[in-house]
Amino acid sequence: MAENIFPHFDQMISREFRENKLGQRSKVIWLTGLSGSGKSTIGLALEKRLFQENFVAQLLDGDNIRSGINKNLGFSEEDRKENIRRIAEIAKLYLSSGIITINSFISPTAETRNIAKEIVGDADFLEIYINAPMATCESRDVKGLYKKARAGEIQGFTGVNQSYEEPENPALELRTDILSVDEAVDKLFTFLKKHIILP
Ligand code: ADX
Repeated sequence: MAENIFPHFDQMISREFRENKLGQRSKVIWLTGLSGSGKSTIGLALEKRLFQENFVAQLLDGDNIRSGINKNLGFSEEDRKENIRRIAEIAKLYLSSGIITINSFISPTAETRNIAKEIVGDADFLEIYINAPMATCESRDVKGLYKKARAGEIQGFTGVNQSYEEPENPALELRTDILSVDEAVDKLFTFLKKHIILP
């Protein structure tokens, strides 16, 4: 617990003032799904689309974050929770600066996603399930990690030897085995508009 610490959030320029200046409402867009389901692809395309439409957004992505601030974390249950806790705190900082974040993390359990939701706050947390059947993700195997996991070279790989709990009530689900990237991003952008456009 933080002792001898005196935060002064209340004296800072408000989120509302910043949002008005940027001409948008900030939100935390949380993409969850298996490795290879298309989170990074959709996240990158959405970031571009939001910029084209004059929104200011920042992608926070598993592999990027794990090569920097979270490079001391692995894939045990505890480390995954800590990974998500730190990301959620970062997303919350962006939120208060008026910037939309697109968070692309497997976040494999309801518990990890709840940690994020509690830190960010229910009203600003948009859970998007990037869903493709396990067999599709494995056949894509963009990073060759399913092959390594099957060969026993990676322990606790999500979907292979560690489970992925599907979100029970996501704000939106995108089936990336059915939709093209453009179609998925269109659908997501249409959904997001009501959340990020200033009244
Ligand atoms: S999370 O479970 O903690 O949310 P995160 O999204 O940050 O995961 O990182 C997932 C990425 O790490 C995968 O896309 C993959 O490239 C890599 N990775 C390495 N080992 C594992 C593993 N055991 N399980 C899942 N992903 C792994």
